[in-house]
Amino acid sequence: MPDYRDEASLLRTEQSLTNYPPLVFAEEARDLKKDLARVAAGEAFLLQGGDCAESFAEFHPNNIRDTFRVILQMAVVLTFGSKRPVVKIGRMAGQFAKPRSSEVEKQGDIELPSYRGDIINGIEFDAAAREPDPERMLRAYSQSAATLNLLRAFASGGYANLQRVHGWTLDFVQRSAWAKKYNEMGERIGEALAFMEACGINPDTVPQLKATQFYTSHEALLLRYEQAMTRQDSLTGGWYDTSAHFLWIGDRTRFDGSAHVEFMRGIENPIGIKCGPSLEPDVLLKILDDLNPAREPGRITLISRFGHDKVEAGLPKLVRAVKAEGHPVVWSCDPMHGNVIKAESGFKTRPFERIMQEVAGFFAVHRAEGTNAGGIHIEMTGKDVTECTGGGIAVTDASLADRYHTHCDPRLNAAQSLELAFTLAEMLTAELPERVEKAA
Ligand code: TRP
Ligand code: MN
Repeated sequence: MPDYRDEASLLRTEQSLTNYPPLVFAEEARDLKKDLARVAAGEAFLLQGGDCAESFAEFHPNNIRDTFRVILQMAVVLTFGSKRPVVKIGRMAGQFAKPRSSEVEKQGDIELPSYRGDIINGIEFDAAAREPDPERMLRAYSQSAATLNLLRAFASGGYANLQRVHGWTLDFVQRSAWAKKYNEMGERIGEALAFMEACGINPDTVPQLKATQFYTSHEALLLRYEQAMTRQDSLTGGWYDTSAHFLWIGDRTRFDGSAHVEFMRGIENPIGIKCGPSLEPDVLLKILDDLNPAREPGRITLISRFGHDKVEAGLPKLVRAVKAEGHPVVWSCDPMHGNVIKAESGFKTRPFERIMQEVAGFFAVHRAEGTNAGGIHIEMTGKDVTECTGGGIAVTDASLADRYHTHCDPRLNAAQSLELAFTLAEMLTAELPERVEKAA
């Protein structure tokens, strides 16, 4: 937790936040829990994506629109590939706080507190900016409210129209030479839509084709903020963190006895737990017993982040332990956080090939264990940034400097995100006969 020096300002801010309207409604969090229960049962697939860290500086409607658009494009491809509904969750409208491995950052002879996300302090390397400022929580709240408002408008106001979203994808596969290999799947989706249209099923006659359900999420790191946003639901009496539909605990704060685990125990939202190589099965089982004693399906999503070369060795022991105890979890793959390297140019990057390798390893583990590979969790943006190397357009080490805009970790750009979706859709299609057998 940050060390706020201005206690009076902190208390004032918390008081204000407590009186602000909730950003989400408890019933929506319950709907998401039901959707995630379907993922846990193998009847739906989870897609969670967005910025590593949102920032005040990058706050712009076009950024929100572009990220939302790419998530929807991915969702169409994944729905087609898996023949299952895709549950869509953005790392958006509240993803502002960052855990850091070091309290301080050193540049030359100067040592300052680390940047911890715009909700806490500023990214500029000067003493005033790095001082934690409670009032930043109010700005994060209003940015989240405005972002969520636009997302809701897009999701229900016609922007998410299935035919339109697929039209953008077709345009993309036909325009870029390297993406031609995805044209076949693109055409097949187009044919399915045209066939339905001929049968009288179109966005005007069937409202489900015009709108979608889009949920929000972030890491519940800054407990001052999360607690101030926690309210008792007037319908059920349950407590909900109304800053987002879904909250997760990071790999660095999920230890037994942590304040973050204790906070999560008290709220009824669906929650995620990041699982890295250092997590022992018995510690995980203890956290699961604490956070989901009733073993309610949809309550827990386990987000594994091992690294492309560690997932096949490290993940099985967790999967087996959870399966043996009968905990009904969603297994989701974060192929980003275990695959960060420092490029020769000095930039922090993630090679696209390693990201794909971790996804493939994750699927292989679940196939071998007879469990369900439920979804993915990625850091991406709708912009044409150069932060991760590789992919069809082949961002190179040397081109990282061109458009490296992230406030924290390197994100997949729009083309890399779509490429991941197409490849993943092929994997999901390959598993279809197997799933039918399992069900029978
Ligand atoms: N309502 C359905 C869903 O959300 C179908 C749909 C409409 C859709 N627009 C979409 C699916 C955009 C993915 C992307 O699943
Ligand atoms: Mn990150």
